[in-house]
Amino acid sequence: MLLGDFLKEGISRLKSLYPPEEARDIVLTLCESRLGTGRYTYATDPDYSIAPDSLDSLSGDMDRLSAGEPLQYVLGYAWFLGRRFKVTTDVLIPRPETEILCQEAIKAFKDPRGRILDLCTGSGCVAWSLALELPGSVVYGVDISKAALAVASGQDLSSDRSSPVFLKADILDSPPLFPCGKFDLILSNPPYIMESQKKDMRPNVLDHEPSLALFVPDEDPLVFYRAVARWAEALLAEDGTGLVEINETLGSQTRDLFLGFGFGKVEIIDDFFGKNRFVKFMR
Ligand SMILES: C[S@@+](CC[C@H](N)C(=O)[O-])C[C@H]1O[C@@H](n2cnc3c(N)ncnc32)[C@H](O)[C@@H]1O
Repeated sequence: MLLGDFLKEGISRLKSLYPPEEARDIVLTLCESRLGTGRYTYATDPDYSIAPDSLDSLSGDMDRLSAGEPLQYVLGYAWFLGRRFKVTTDVLIPRPETEILCQEAIKAFKDPRGRILDLCTGSGCVAWSLALELPGSVVYGVDISKAALAVASGQDLSSDRSSPVFLKADILDSPPLFPCGKFDLILSNPPYIMESQKKDMRPNVLDHEPSLALFVPDEDPLVFYRAVARWAEALLAEDGTGLVEINETLGSQTRDLFLGFGFGKVEIIDDFFGKNRFVKFMR
């Protein structure tokens, strides 16, 4: 089958799920990844024909995509801060706004050999990015999900001394003791979407990404921020910084929660859409 025909057919199969430009981008990215073709190969080499065995596996990919599965799960990876992270349906697909969480953390980080704790680590994208950007730091990643921790610790990134240490813990419980003592930086992107916000979400997220990673009850949407504040009370060093990603509709409530725990210099930081997306606090 000609690449151009495959693209046309693929885009048409996705048209009920995605806007046309996004559908096109998904099918082109799939072909780039599986066939090694370029963005414009269908135009520069109109006779490019897909070999029968590649076509079989691409058709399988298209079946998964047209059933609504996100492209990153089909490919088995997602890009985050310029690195390729393995993802499975046990972990949240890393989001672009979480890249800002890491960039803010790097900005706030004074000691290149400091200690960093990433709560609710999922794929480990935050823990790994900080460990690799701040070599010499000691990084721990914590999650309740054993399956997510297997993905985080199995990332095919550097396995030298900058690898984070991943631990299973429920952050709604009291924090354990860590061999490094306290932390200079505690950060977290915990579940923060209220059940009532589900109606605004796309089915490809709702049906495929782990609900454990996403949702909190409407009656207590800040449950995980109270937990982060309790862990930070016990584990944040003097002068240490905390940074959390938040629900854009709960900016001032989340800020007040950290103020209520006695943290200082509490500030809300916006994302690239101008939405309240992070809260930073200090010991
Ligand atoms: C929003 S995801 C964030 C994943 C990753 N840090 C990222 O930014 O892509 C939240 C993570 O919190 C974990 N989680 C949910 N409840 C938890 C709990 N009680 N204790 C620890 N981790 C929890 C989930 O397993 C999930 O991996």
